[in-house]
Amino acid sequence: MAMRISVIGCGYLGAVHAASMAELGHEVVGIDVDPAKVESLAAGRAPFFEPGLPELLERTLETGRLRFTTDFADAAGAEVHFLCVGTPQKSGEFAADLQYVDGAFAELLAIVGPGAVIAGKSTVPVGTAERLAARLEEVQPEATLVWNPEFLREGFAVKDTLHPDRLVYGVPDGAEGERATAVLDEVYARILAEGTPRLVMDPSTAQLVKVAANSFLATKISFINAMAELCERTGGDVTSLADAIGLDERIGRKFLNAGLGFGGGCLPKDIRAFMARAGELGADQTLSFLREVDAINTRRRVRMVDLAREVCGGSFLGQRITVLGASFKPNSDDIRDSPALNVAEQLRLQGAMVRVTDPAALANAKSSYPNLVYVEDVEEALTGADLVLILTEWEQYRELDPEKAGELVAQRRVLDGRNAIDPAAWRAAGWTYRALGRR
Ligand code: UDX
Repeated sequence: MAMRISVIGCGYLGAVHAASMAELGHEVVGIDVDPAKVESLAAGRAPFFEPGLPELLERTLETGRLRFTTDFADAAGAEVHFLCVGTPQKSGEFAADLQYVDGAFAELLAIVGPGAVIAGKSTVPVGTAERLAARLEEVQPEATLVWNPEFLREGFAVKDTLHPDRLVYGVPDGAEGERATAVLDEVYARILAEGTPRLVMDPSTAQLVKVAANSFLATKISFINAMAELCERTGGDVTSLADAIGLDERIGRKFLNAGLGFGGGCLPKDIRAFMARAGELGADQTLSFLREVDAINTRRRVRMVDLAREVCGGSFLGQRITVLGASFKPNSDDIRDSPALNVAEQLRLQGAMVRVTDPAALANAKSSYPNLVYVEDVEEALTGADLVLILTEWEQYRELDPEKAGELVAQRRVLDGRNAIDPAAWRAAGWTYRALGRR
């Protein structure tokens, strides 16, 4: 049955969620405070790079079931309100900044009707849902707050939303929780019909599930990067190590790609907010290992710069360095905490002449790192380079022909920050190949 849905916050999460809910057959209004974003979405243009989103927007806007507005009043009358605003890191501390959650929730309180379900999707410190539920109880006791975390990955956001691994509902006890569960089942009917596992639990656990999942992923990446550090000392090869341990089904090969480490708008800030929250709960020791996870991750960036300096003969002065990739990962234009840009900027500050190219993220990169030089065309970026760094493993960089690339550069020297290219093929074409955690 088609339901009336509002989606509050139309960033990476909300824009995809809104369009996906319309794709599932519902009547959806997406609300955001940013008029430019709303205008773009309403015109069918995705305000950020996300494969499949432009097509999904076009398809769902055409049905008339999806619209976008800045007017919060348009959320009134929705049976389900999805809260999808951001929870960035607070400036100057590890904790999450909840001002957008609190602001959007205050607006929701003004319009939420009896029987409505407010479903939080934002990643929040555990305890937030309980606090918001208490407020809701005072203002509209006949509405229900649930936590329904989202696990989408950028670059796969449409697929992850329409065909998720699992659905998690954090609902209150008793009849109210059962009713909210039935409402969410109706919203996700088509997804559930595919056999998607759905786990119903209390809101506190549901909030923890999200940060626990991201902490586990971050730990897995830092674990393999710690092994990379050891391989660097012993002359071992971290990719062979990852292949070998990854074949153990209990470990698994996914998320064991060593290299420059994790960045983006989620993993770094989520593990920090989790540590901050554990501290508030008097359990700071419990998550102190995440400090190490964070430290290993940031050390990779320093190591990359050191390796580049070594390859350049001890100094960056006069060296023309080409950085391939600016986004925090391929298939995204997101540069939040991008390891690639972090390294590029360090190289520049240490005297290198750095040129950065990326298929999607240059506009974002320019506004955050205005002092770097940006080149759109990869061939132009390679021309005359003394050293090439592959820092984001876009398909087009993985598939570079070492022979053709070699004809463009001044010196055939490449550093593979993502273990993305074949060392044998590049060495055969006369390149000096170096990578983190490899001989
Ligand atoms: C992550 C979670 O995967 C997702 O479930 C959650 O909803 C949001 O946070 P995302 O930030 O989009 O998603 O990116 P992800 O694909 O998880 O990659 C995160 C970072 O880890 C990237 O910088 C990536 O390059 C890095 N990474 C990933 C590695 O360094 N090695 C790996 O093996 C995998």
